[in-house]
Amino acid sequence: MRICVCVSGGGTNLQAIFDAIDAGRIPGAEIVRVISNNPGAFALERAKNRGIEAVCISPKTFPDREAFNEALLQGLKDCKPELIVLAGFLVNVPVCVIREFKNRIINIHPSLIPSFCGKGYYGLKVHEGVLARGVKVTGATVHFVDEGIDTGKIIAQKAVCVEDGDTPEILQKRVMEQAEWIILPETVRKIVAGELQIG
Ligand code: GRF
Repeated sequence: MRICVCVSGGGTNLQAIFDAIDAGRIPGAEIVRVISNNPGAFALERAKNRGIEAVCISPKTFPDREAFNEALLQGLKDCKPELIVLAGFLVNVPVCVIREFKNRIINIHPSLIPSFCGKGYYGLKVHEGVLARGVKVTGATVHFVDEGIDTGKIIAQKAVCVEDGDTPEILQKRVMEQAEWIILPETVRKIVAGELQIG
């Protein structure tokens, strides 16, 4: 199955998918392209290190948002993906992309949706919200991407304990290690194996 992964940052979720493929846990998966809005994303280096086409499509290099949206759509269509994975992609996916790849886009969010999600909840801000509210359990969610923000059908979730003394950074790392890096590759495996229908 041809997969395109969209990233913005360090790419540890992308790496988790690479590692699962290398361990033989996702037979049939082929990451055909990695796209980032951020030219400095280390995730692009991770892709290049594996000989995977790494493409930067940055909003900053287009005259307006519409032009960026069209370029992102074309960058996705060109690699003919059957599945698109948003792995720490901090761009609101344009409607034209969501309609072109209806029910073929999944996202990893670092909380238990519907808590601590939606506008303004991304990266460390999610964990700051968790700690500020004082919840004792958080986690991660994989969901289909629809035209809302973090509103698509939930596919998988994994809970993680909040511990005394947690900082947003400590909690983020625990959620990545104990939840994100597990449920995202597992969801990709299910989709590639045909155990979870897409499209
Ligand atoms: C992760 O916390 C992910 O849940 C969130 O953004 C971060 C991306 O991390 N969407 P990485 O780029 O996969 O390391």
